[in-house]
Amino acid sequence: MSKTSIVFLAASAVVVGSLLNYLRNDQALEVPKIDEEYWGTGERPAQEDKTVRKFVLNVSDDVLADLNYRLERTRFPDNFHGVQWEYGFGLDYMKELVTYWKDGFDWRKQEALLNSFDHYKTKIDGLDLHFIHVKPKLKPGQSSKPLLLAHGWPGSFFEFYKVIPVLTDPLAHNGTEEDIFEVIVPSIPGFGFSQPASKPGLEDSATAVLYLKLMDRLGFDAYYVQGGDHGSVIVSVMAMLNPKVVRGIHLNMYTGNTETSFLVKLLVGSVFPSLIGMSEEDYQKVYPLWDRFLWILSETGYLHMQATRPHTIGHALVDSPVGMAAHILEKYASWTNPTFSHLPDGGLEKHFTKDELLTTVMIYWVSGTVVSTLRLYRETISARKFPIISAAHAIPIDIPSAIADYPHELFHTPEPWCHDRLRNLLQYTTMPRGGHFAALEVPDLFSQDIRDFARKAEAFWRRQSQD
Ligand SMILES: *[C@@H]1O[C@H](CO)[C@@H](O)[C@H](O)[C@H]1NC(C)=O
Ligand SMILES: *[C@@H]1O[C@H](CO)[C@@H](O)[C@H](O)[C@H]1NC(C)=O
Repeated sequence: MSKTSIVFLAASAVVVGSLLNYLRNDQALEVPKIDEEYWGTGERPAQEDKTVRKFVLNVSDDVLADLNYRLERTRFPDNFHGVQWEYGFGLDYMKELVTYWKDGFDWRKQEALLNSFDHYKTKIDGLDLHFIHVKPKLKPGQSSKPLLLAHGWPGSFFEFYKVIPVLTDPLAHNGTEEDIFEVIVPSIPGFGFSQPASKPGLEDSATAVLYLKLMDRLGFDAYYVQGGDHGSVIVSVMAMLNPKVVRGIHLNMYTGNTETSFLVKLLVGSVFPSLIGMSEEDYQKVYPLWDRFLWILSETGYLHMQATRPHTIGHALVDSPVGMAAHILEKYASWTNPTFSHLPDGGLEKHFTKDELLTTVMIYWVSGTVVSTLRLYRETISARKFPIISAAHAIPIDIPSAIADYPHELFHTPEPWCHDRLRNLLQYTTMPRGGHFAALEVPDLFSQDIRDFARKAEAFWRRQSQD
């Protein structure tokens, strides 16, 4: 394209975009109503069992013996000479990982680590929801702030195992009394130890409804929420549906860019970056558009598959631990730093240990839930409730909010573009390092950012109550 045609295109886009934006803003956006659903089998009982039960992970020896049997008989694919991760999960590293899985990895040790947190289950709308709930040990005069941490795919509650102690016991982790959190980490229904829905439709916004009910059941009426990936959508919907209970929303991976005006900004920015508030650094992260587009395309094959035919690939993944490990862990490599695809381990072990990687995979394997995790894409992207998700991306949020922008996150949104929707964006941090799985990869940065934000949000609420 010549420069003139780009300018023409951009100019037309501005006109059309402004018009669309004008029309859209003219109609007051309404929070969509979500119908009450029952996700369990059969009919909703007259009385739901509301007890909160302690849960201890204890995988049976049979499951572990079966896993070992399968690992012993792994059939590996062939490979091109000299190819590492350029075509997908590297063969050499998979062989190394499987050897470790069979001979070095100690699930019982990892299970004990997971059990060092307090786990619970409670039934909500027919589903047994699993969550971690860690209460800080408070001394007289101390108080804590409740905080819900929301994982996505292919993550789990385990992503937060390094930040939970930092957040709940800040005095032992260079924080102060102001930084004490009480942490709740639910598993998305159908992930790990949260029961999958027994019928179609449980997508991100329905998950948000379940999380709101969970927090209510635990007695919280004012709390912080944090999320990345699907978790970012889930907590945004929570804030949209019930802003009265959410005191602050902290996101890594901002998903508010689904509007037409976003495309317009992208086009305009490619020619006149400063016109739409783009810094030089933003420009480097967003352009050239064609390269970004190809990168997104090359990273989202899984998404198309999971959003359309999750059950087809599901047959392979639920039956083969190695296939499942490849499907899941490929993302831990390329979404953490895409420039390492020439390395034998795809860069995985620069950021994570084999134990961390395999524990993540094991949560999907021992629970046999991988298929229901894939389905979340089908439900969310092709769902009848898509309008709710789009609304959650368009309806302004007035509660205090924060974005942590990690350099290797899948996409980058320049700060000025976030203010339209997040009208009290109190903090936008350009992180020096880290990618999509920030809590696991850079727990210090992740926790510190939440602490900094909560202080600002508390000050915001103090000002509000004085006015
Ligand atoms: C797991 O179950 C076995 C067999 O019932 C029992 O011996 C063991 O103590 C349990 N482990 C935990 C952590 O509860
Ligand atoms: C702890 O202190 C260091 C050095 O001041 C800082 O970089 C870090 O972010 C702090 N917070 C956490 C949660 O580690």
